[in-house]
Amino acid sequence: MTSTPLPAFPEGFLWGVSTAAYQIEGAVVEDGRGPSIWDTFAHTPGRVRDGHTGDTACDHYHRWPEDLALLGDLGVNAYRFSLAWPRVQPDGAGPANPKGLDFYDRLVDALAARSIAPVPTLFHWDLPQALEDRGGWLDRDTAHRFAEYAALVAERLADRIPAWITLNEPLVHMAEGYAFGSHAPGRALLLDALPVGHHQLLGHGLATAALRAHGAREVMVTNNCTPVRPASDSPEDTAAADVYDAFHDRFFNDPVLLGRYPDLSAVGLPADPPYLRDGDLETIGAPLDALGVNYYNPTRVAAAAPGSGLPFDLVPIEGVPTTAFGWPVVPEGLYDLLTGLRARYGAALPPIHITENGCSTEDAVDEDGRVRDTARIDFLDGHLRALHRAAKAGVDVRGYFVWSLLDNFEWAEGYHQRFGLVHVDYATQRRTPKDSYHWLRTALTGRNHRR
Ligand code: NOJ
Repeated sequence: MTSTPLPAFPEGFLWGVSTAAYQIEGAVVEDGRGPSIWDTFAHTPGRVRDGHTGDTACDHYHRWPEDLALLGDLGVNAYRFSLAWPRVQPDGAGPANPKGLDFYDRLVDALAARSIAPVPTLFHWDLPQALEDRGGWLDRDTAHRFAEYAALVAERLADRIPAWITLNEPLVHMAEGYAFGSHAPGRALLLDALPVGHHQLLGHGLATAALRAHGAREVMVTNNCTPVRPASDSPEDTAAADVYDAFHDRFFNDPVLLGRYPDLSAVGLPADPPYLRDGDLETIGAPLDALGVNYYNPTRVAAAAPGSGLPFDLVPIEGVPTTAFGWPVVPEGLYDLLTGLRARYGAALPPIHITENGCSTEDAVDEDGRVRDTARIDFLDGHLRALHRAAKAGVDVRGYFVWSLLDNFEWAEGYHQRFGLVHVDYATQRRTPKDSYHWLRTALTGRNHRR
């Protein structure tokens, strides 16, 4: 474990942690919240490991004052959370449910009282089930519903929000939710899921306009980005890596930053797919104030083995530590990613916020009450140094948010993967700040005594 002080970031840099509604809130039937696709999915046997659901999660809906106290004590100056669309619009359409908005209104005020900037995400995968019943993100109309929802939220909160995030990781929602079926809504459409990507991006563009019309200051989208490395320099592996990068990264970054889709003709996809209409790319490509980047690891890609259903194979990155999830730990990947984005997009690249970075570890509370998550400290330290090097190399980085404040519901893995700076005992809802929490607190505040 390192004890060298972290490098200094510029004045005004946002230091934060991230969470998402379905992963922490619980209270899924309270105060008029409607069902989301994740309620349906998690309650379908066999979908989530051990049948876990977000019914209670971290009970943050009731325990938020305690969680805000943890944030305050940590010394962050920003907090990224998501609003549950089905709390605000239980059926995904129509007027706002006042009690749903009240919850976020109170949260925003309480954050402001602690001088913590609220950075809300409007969509972190919990689509109202009523919209899924009408086609979900396969249906273009969902993009318009999303903009209406954004307007309702902004009307109530925009005066107190310095920066908004429209979507979280539209790639992962499209791929896991609609292409492979491992996330809600559990569809397995493979390439036929591409309209889901487009409709989310259209929703982003329409919501951006709606947010701005209601006085939003900064707007960004959060993409899950990975530096892609070919398994060898053979033309086959290099071509497969390029296709992977096109689907994973450029399909979501190019439209918002350049106003066009990447060329997917190598896999037989047309330049003018039927879901793309006149004017869509102008809506999607409206200038952004920042780009949210979630980084977890690089990806190593080889040419597809014969008979594989996909145009690439993912191969392990050898010789590096791995997280409890088995993800490779490669801090340098963050430097490669950011300098790569800068090289590709140049002046079209807005300032960047790292809206998620973190790792899952097998944490337990020791007899003395401590959680010794040394691997998380090493992870964060290494990534912050790589981030600093990228900033020195000219990448305009404005913020860094750790995923996550609390251990929480890790989607198809249920409660098995612990990403928090704070340990949660789900039986008692007891929160225990881990060693990594104390480490970050010392880095941010200079105070190092444990609570
Ligand atoms: C990205 C997602 O936004 C978040 O919800 C998830 O928990 C983390 N990755 C870790 O898998």
